[in-house]
Amino acid sequence: MLKVARSNGTTGIVLTPHYLTRDMRSHRLKKQELIQRFEVFRDAVANEIPDIKLYMGAEMFGVSNMEDVVEDDMVIPINGTRYVLIEFGFSDYLQRALEVTNKLINAGYTPVIAHPERYSFIQRNPRDIVQFLEKGAVLQVNSSSLAGHNGALAQDVALSFIENDLAAVVASDAHSTYQRVPDLSEVYSFISSNFSPAYAEDLMYNNPLNIVKGKML
Ligand SMILES: [Fe+2]
Repeated sequence: MLKVARSNGTTGIVLTPHYLTRDMRSHRLKKQELIQRFEVFRDAVANEIPDIKLYMGAEMFGVSNMEDVVEDDMVIPINGTRYVLIEFGFSDYLQRALEVTNKLINAGYTPVIAHPERYSFIQRNPRDIVQFLEKGAVLQVNSSSLAGHNGALAQDVALSFIENDLAAVVASDAHSTYQRVPDLSEVYSFISSNFSPAYAEDLMYNNPLNIVKGKML
């Protein structure tokens, strides 16, 4: 997957294994284990693919008891910054998602909302996304959504976020080399030609780089 990403122009990538479930029992072990595995993997890759930079992260599920996750120091932020990638269930509820987002913000984190265009509560009322932005969260749109692989509705919503300058990041949400592949080149060209090259650069290079550096967007 990293070779695919590199050959399509990616020079840095945040590894975001799914993390946190509704079952909280194993998280303490899991965080340490994930960090350990990341370090081993990063060092192994450094020799084989030296021109791609790997950053630690996680796609944290927005569990309702996020305050416990914070208190137990179980949050896995992006590259040790205050940015946290967070996702919700596809048929979750707006109010619950907002409450979880609030808990992270109150703890001093900046939630990066993963693929907002895929949630049914956002697809029904895309304008509700403003409530997350007003709190200080930022949006990450999937390249696969823009390409239409997650359905027409997700595509429309994703596109409207791009058109209205609401998303900070377009990311691959890569899962394999054959499905949801780590290839941003097609969407990069699409945004370059339909909006501007500078906008594509912001969404797929500058903003992500500022996030891994912990800078304000
Ligand atoms: Fe996800």
